[in-house]
Amino acid sequence: MHVLFCCADTRPEPWLEGLRAALPGATVSEWRPGAPQADHAVVWSPPQRFLDEQPALQAMFNIGAGVDALLRLRLPPGVRVVRLNDAGMSVQMAEYVCHAVIRHFREFAAYGADAREGRWTLRKPRPRADFPVGVMGLGVLGERVARALHLFEFPVHGWSRSPRALDGVVCHAGTEGFDAFLGECRVLVNLLPLTPQTQDILNRRTLSRLREGAYLVNVARGAHLVDEDLLALLDGGHMAGATLDVFRTEPLPAEHPFWRHPNITVTPHISARTLRDESIAQIAGKIQALARGERVDGEVDPQRGY
Ligand code: NAP
Ligand code: GLV
Repeated sequence: MHVLFCCADTRPEPWLEGLRAALPGATVSEWRPGAPQADHAVVWSPPQRFLDEQPALQAMFNIGAGVDALLRLRLPPGVRVVRLNDAGMSVQMAEYVCHAVIRHFREFAAYGADAREGRWTLRKPRPRADFPVGVMGLGVLGERVARALHLFEFPVHGWSRSPRALDGVVCHAGTEGFDAFLGECRVLVNLLPLTPQTQDILNRRTLSRLREGAYLVNVARGAHLVDEDLLALLDGGHMAGATLDVFRTEPLPAEHPFWRHPNITVTPHISARTLRDESIAQIAGKIQALARGERVDGEVDPQRGY
């Protein structure tokens, strides 16, 4: 077995070492142009040249949950694409989203500003019932987030492509259930994969359907959001604010208005990081399972786009 590692923006040595330890007997090497043919690859945003040079790949393991960047490329025929399934990401995503929602709901930014000025000011408690939270995407990450929000006793709604049932979450499904879902929510959390169906889904029309004083948490992909529409709805007062972790261009350009908007919190795509040890263990386990002819979780359907 020959496993090639080809991951942008990732220091290869610790991954190569970890994969070699987890897959004794396999050849594991970093890809360079002209590298020998391999049967498996561990990838993140690989160049098209890598894929063109490796037509014999049987399976590619993406070291992230989202495969949008990979599916934009021309893949070797018949290759299986497998994404990370949780691998320590869902707890991070639950922390990030609950932090963002609670920070907004409890007005911690305003208390922080008061504290910096030495002001002891009490704000009126806001009823939780006035802050129903909607989670778009009820997959590995969205489900964990919806459950975590429910533990804080927010009213929680969820939206997915196919119907789901989750305790404590009012579930909506499909395009026919979308507007009713939006109409229920004041806080909207996006955890959809980026596909042709979901690109630009956070736009003037959809965000306008949220309850007055709405708040957006986008932790999926920047191309889900039409930036100007969010800014217009913030300026018009329909939206109260947003926490954004992902952007159309990353790093977010210095001149982008999101950086300076008083009601937007920006983080640099850190809501759920890829954890190396957990990911290596998961990928090695899946390579071994495939070799035994077993099915593995997280195999992507390229037609569906996730
Ligand atoms: P997942 O398990 O594949 O779940 C995707 C969910 O979205 C499923 O519930 C799916 O519905 C739903 N969905 C897909 N297309 C839809 C559509 N057209 N209409 C309605 N629902 C639709 O994915 P995941 O592991 O939870 O990850 C979600 C995304 O999070 C990733 O794709 C990635 O972009 C993003 N992410 C971001 C970070 C970060 O650090 N910011 C980290 C990790 C992941 P069904 O249940 O019916 O299939
Ligand atoms: C990160 O954005 C991921 O898709 O894992």
